[in-house]
Amino acid sequence: MVDATGADAPGLANTHASVSWFEPGLPVPPASSRNNGEGAVAEAGSESDTLSGPDGEDAPSADGESGAEAAAGTEAEPERALEPHPANTTGLDGEALRESMALVEDHLEAVGVDFYAQLFAIAPEARDLFGAGMAVQRSRLVGALVRIVGNADDREVLAPYLEGLGRDHRKFGVIDQHYAPVGTALVLAIRRALGDAWTPRFEKAWVDAYDMIASIMAGAARRDAVISPPWWDAEVVYHRRILDDLAIMQVRPHTDYPYRPGQYAYLTTPRRPKIWRAYSMASAPRDDGLLEFHVRTVGAGWVSSALVWRTEPGDVLHLGAPQGNDVATPRSEHDLLCITGGTGIAPVLATLQELEQRQDGRRVHVFYAGRDRDHLYALPHLESIGVRYRRLTVVPVVSPDGPTDRSPDLMGNIVSAYGDWRKHRVYVAGPTTMVATSLERLRDQGVPDEQIVVDDYGLW
Ligand SMILES: Cc1cc2nc3c(=O)[nH]c(=O)nc-3n(C[C@H](O)[C@H](O)[C@H](O)COP(=O)(O)OP(=O)(O)OC[C@H]3O[C@@H](n4cnc5c(N)ncnc54)[C@H](O)[C@@H]3O)c2cc1C
Ligand code: HEM
Repeated sequence: MVDATGADAPGLANTHASVSWFEPGLPVPPASSRNNGEGAVAEAGSESDTLSGPDGEDAPSADGESGAEAAAGTEAEPERALEPHPANTTGLDGEALRESMALVEDHLEAVGVDFYAQLFAIAPEARDLFGAGMAVQRSRLVGALVRIVGNADDREVLAPYLEGLGRDHRKFGVIDQHYAPVGTALVLAIRRALGDAWTPRFEKAWVDAYDMIASIMAGAARRDAVISPPWWDAEVVYHRRILDDLAIMQVRPHTDYPYRPGQYAYLTTPRRPKIWRAYSMASAPRDDGLLEFHVRTVGAGWVSSALVWRTEPGDVLHLGAPQGNDVATPRSEHDLLCITGGTGIAPVLATLQELEQRQDGRRVHVFYAGRDRDHLYALPHLESIGVRYRRLTVVPVVSPDGPTDRSPDLMGNIVSAYGDWRKHRVYVAGPTTMVATSLERLRDQGVPDEQIVVDDYGLW
């Protein structure tokens, strides 16, 4: 387990004495934030004396890591992949799928509504698989269809995506028998949306496409069932609201939960049954098996409000299989740039814990934005890691105008003004506006896409 206390760190003033939530039962970490609070940028961490730009003289070169490694995540394992298909084609009528999709492009939301109405009429028992709020689910389904149609001719892209989706559906309780009514409802909803524009060619294209989708999803789910549970029960053992809108909790999975720092889990709480949302693990894998999550409410959002305001020790959550990127990939020789906002700091903490544990040689820069100073809640923890991991530089960012979403360019501008990041591996996690503007600035600077990994937390 990582010692996050930094209790014996010399020369650090404790400016966050009220913060004791990182490690329940352990002493409060000392802190030395020099955030000037005026909006701009302050530095913390071990390199505060010699705060260097990203191009420290001993920074390794960009050589040595392939794009594939940079994007390493929970891709399909080779033995689960489909047989290679000639010329990487799917055999689907991609042209007809795209043409029909273009005709309903402007009312895809309505197609989603109609699809679920049809599904629950044909197979009323399927309603029990879904939670109360269907709006987010509708947009996810529509997003998935757009993605599938967009890649309808590209088997190499489509197959791993559908296999992942099929494995993922196990935690919702989806079984083989559910696929037929879903296909019927889907084709019906698209046909009704197209009205007179519907043709036999469209009909064949969609029926063939759904057959293939269902067979890949269901096949992957069956293979996964041999090696992994559909979800993990995990008991909340610690829960503390550290701000009105932010809680830290630790959970103990009932059986081993294998994950890597930087990854996230879809989870659901008994207080909002069957509604699944993604939350990043805020701790590296630990000997005691505990996982930490940091959750901020999104308005009166379904799951976040329940996790922050109505969760207590003893609650048993369900965790889906870990997803996303291994940000601490050992093979990487790139220095690391992390750009985070709000609870986007969680996967970065997990990553830093791992880098510290193995005394990885990489230099790490963390830019950390909060809506105000209080919301930079993880600073003391970052600072205590920085005392031991001397190659860490932390740059807190607070907008002079209050919440960061009023100054969407702030983070991107600060990061790009700070230095040249073209040789870095970059991880970006947090609200959509911060992610989008940071990516824009990085691309302006010429940072290759394959060196960038993103977790976009959503529009808040
Ligand atoms: C990969 C990934 C990792 C994530 N990790 C974390 C994490 O570690 N910690 C964390 O706290 N969150 C994390 N999130 C976000 C999380 O998954 C949820 O999206 C978030 O908690 C909201 O879910 P909800 O059910 O409470 O809100 P929902 O009920 O889904 O409501 C959110 C919807 O309503 C809108 N909305 C509601 N209220 C407001 C408001 N006041 N202002 C603006 N829009 C609003 C949102 O735009 C959105 O469409 C992560 C997301 C992703 C994709
Ligand atoms: C074309 C096939 C399908 C596609 C493209 C699809 C797509 C999706 C997507 C993208 C999600 C969101 C999951 C996530 O983000 O991890 C989802 C969730 C879900 N899907 Fe599917 N799905 C398909 C088939 C099915 C079937 C056959 C069922 C069974 C009835 C089903 C039931 C569900 C349920 C219960 C959820 C969770 C809803 C929630 O979180 O409230 N899906 N689906």
